[in-house]
Amino acid sequence: MEQIGREFMRKTRFEYLQPSDQMRGMPQPPLEVAYTGNGEVIDLAPPESVGVDEITLRDAISGRESVRTYRDAPVALDELSFLLWATQGVKKTMRDLFTFRTVPSAGARHCLETYLLANNVEGIDPGLYRYLALTHRLAGVNADPHIADSVAAACVNQRFLKENAVTFIWTADVYRMTWRYGERGYRYMHIDVGHVCQNLYLAAQAVGCAACAVGAFHDDELNSLLGIDGEAQYALYLAAVGKTD
Ligand SMILES: Cc1cc2nc3c(=O)[nH]c(=O)nc-3n(C[C@H](O)[C@H](O)[C@H](O)COP(=O)(O)O)c2cc1C
Repeated sequence: MEQIGREFMRKTRFEYLQPSDQMRGMPQPPLEVAYTGNGEVIDLAPPESVGVDEITLRDAISGRESVRTYRDAPVALDELSFLLWATQGVKKTMRDLFTFRTVPSAGARHCLETYLLANNVEGIDPGLYRYLALTHRLAGVNADPHIADSVAAACVNQRFLKENAVTFIWTADVYRMTWRYGERGYRYMHIDVGHVCQNLYLAAQAVGCAACAVGAFHDDELNSLLGIDGEAQYALYLAAVGKTD
């Protein structure tokens, strides 16, 4: 395992890449992982209808900071709609082949899926949800009343994940990226998610919230809580959000 990172970087250089499945004419995977659960599906308010604070770009960038202590107050479902739009909102779908969103993505692959740990969101029960970006809806994934404890434990017992209003959990649907880029695609999905998290940090301030990125987690534990296999789809990154004013 020593120097595995260095080996990864070396072996994913352009010169070592094999023709990707796209180059070999293989069909493209779907734009979103199908929702097969039987939880509640909730329509979210259209993002353009959600009123948010006017904040200058300069203030949003300079005010961004990681906050781990929040007010004990709920995030409204409309505010969550805005945050989901800011992080993964679909602006345009082109011939069912690719999407343009509020964030960039290598080759417009957009291989991320967003899960939400809702601890205190007005209008929905606490639990684990998924964002269905193509239709701007939420879908229930796991209503276990202990789910927040389990997610916090998987994230090396970072307690603020139990005390905040909502946590974004981003996963990669690997083949959506590797279909086009092969092994180098693994680099790009990690880069993509950084853009997403930064948008969350910036947008959170427009709804009286702050965020904190979380990269410390036990992969297997978190993937199994999300109900994903850890190979074809796995957790990349999280960010806690809570009210600050
Ligand atoms: C990739 C990444 C992973 C991080 N993981 C954690 C984490 O697991 N727990 C945490 O409390 N903060 C985490 N942070 C937040 C950093 O600690 C924070 O960004 C840093 O201390 C600088 O503070 P600032 O964001 O307020 O400027 C992470 C940040 C990044 C970018």
